[in-house]
Amino acid sequence: MTFETYFARTRKSLQDDLTAFMASKRGDVARLRPWGPDALRRLTAFTRKGKMIRGGLVALGSEMAGGRAGRAADRAGAAFELIQSGLLIHDDIIDRDPRRRGGPSIHEQYARLAPSPGGDAAGHFGTNLAVCAGDIAIFLAFEAMAGLAGPPERAAAVQKLFAAEFGLVGLGQMLDVEAGASRKSLPNRRILEIYRYKTARYSFYLPLAAGWILGGGPGRVLPSLERLGEDLGLVFQIKDDELGLYGKPAATGKPVGSDIREGKRTLYAAEIFSRASGADMDRFASVFGQAAATEAEIGFVRDLAARLGAREDVRQIMVRLGRRADRGIRALPIRAGHRELLLGLLGYLLSRRS
Ligand code: IPE
Ligand code: MG
Ligand code: MG
Repeated sequence: MTFETYFARTRKSLQDDLTAFMASKRGDVARLRPWGPDALRRLTAFTRKGKMIRGGLVALGSEMAGGRAGRAADRAGAAFELIQSGLLIHDDIIDRDPRRRGGPSIHEQYARLAPSPGGDAAGHFGTNLAVCAGDIAIFLAFEAMAGLAGPPERAAAVQKLFAAEFGLVGLGQMLDVEAGASRKSLPNRRILEIYRYKTARYSFYLPLAAGWILGGGPGRVLPSLERLGEDLGLVFQIKDDELGLYGKPAATGKPVGSDIREGKRTLYAAEIFSRASGADMDRFASVFGQAAATEAEIGFVRDLAARLGAREDVRQIMVRLGRRADRGIRALPIRAGHRELLLGLLGYLLSRRS
C-alpha cells in the first residue's frame, strides 16, 4: 500500500471517530447555549479539515509494533487531532495569522461574531473566545485519551507520555516567541532546538511512540523512534517555513510571509541576516518584524533569500536531515511494508506543496 492510500484510509477512520466522539459530548455541552453547541460544531469542522498525519502515525506506530490499528489507536489518533486544533488556534493568535486550513482562523471567525464587529474590541472578543475554544479542544483531547480501549497499562503509559510531551510544546512556543521578540540572531543549532520542541517531537515522535506502545511494542525501540521522529519533524518544520515564504496560499491554506511579518527567527531569517549587507541588509531589516509589510516587500525577501543562497542552504539542511531520517527508518526492526510507508512519508515531507 502506498503512503497516500494508507493516510487517506486512516484519515477517514479518524474523521469518523472524531465525529462520534464529538457527538457523544453533545449531551453535556449543548446545555451551555449558545457557545456549547457552536464550539463543538466549529471544532469538529476545523479538525476534520486537517491533514491528520499525526493521527495516522498513531495507527502506523501500532501496526509497526505488530498490533492492529484498532479502536484505541483511532481514539488516541482523534485525540492528537483535537489537541493539534487547540494548539493551532492558540498559535494563530500568537502569530496573528488570519487564515488557517483554507478559511478564517478561529479567532477571526469569533471576531466576526462580536456584538459590534470590526475594530479593536471585536478583535479582542475574537481572541478571547478563541483562547477558550483552544482550551476546550485540548481538554476534549485529554478526555478522549482517558477512555482508551485495550490493556490498561498500555493506555496509562500512553496517557502519561501524551501529557508530558504536550507540556513541552508550550515551552517550545515560548522560545519561539522570545526569539521573535529579541534583536539578536540565533545560531542554527538553537533554531533547530526550538523547532524540535514547538513541532517535531509532538508531531512525529509522540504519535509513533503512542501507537508503538498501544500496539505492545518493546520499549527498547522507543529511543530510535525518538531520534527518527525528531528528524522527520525537523524536515516537516523546515518545509513549513519554505511553504510559508514560497508556497501558494491556495494550496497551504495559510498566508504567505507571516513569519517575516512576525519577525520569526526561522532558518531563512538567520541565513539572510548572516549574508546580507549594504542596501539589502537595510531593506531586509526594515521589513523583518513589520506586521504591515506589503506583498512587494515580502516578494523582496523571497528574492533576496534566493539571490544570497539562503534558500538553497536551508534546503540543504533539510535534505541532510532527510538522509538521516532515511537511515533511521531503514534501521528500525519493522516489516518491509511499514518501512515503505515511512519512506513514503519522508518523501512526502521533503516535497509537499500544501
Ligand atoms: C506551530 O508552529 C507550532 C504549534 C502549533 C505548536 P508555526 O507557527 O511555525 O506553524 P504554522 O506555520 O503557523 O502552521
Ligand atoms: Mg504559526
Ligand atoms: Mg507559531
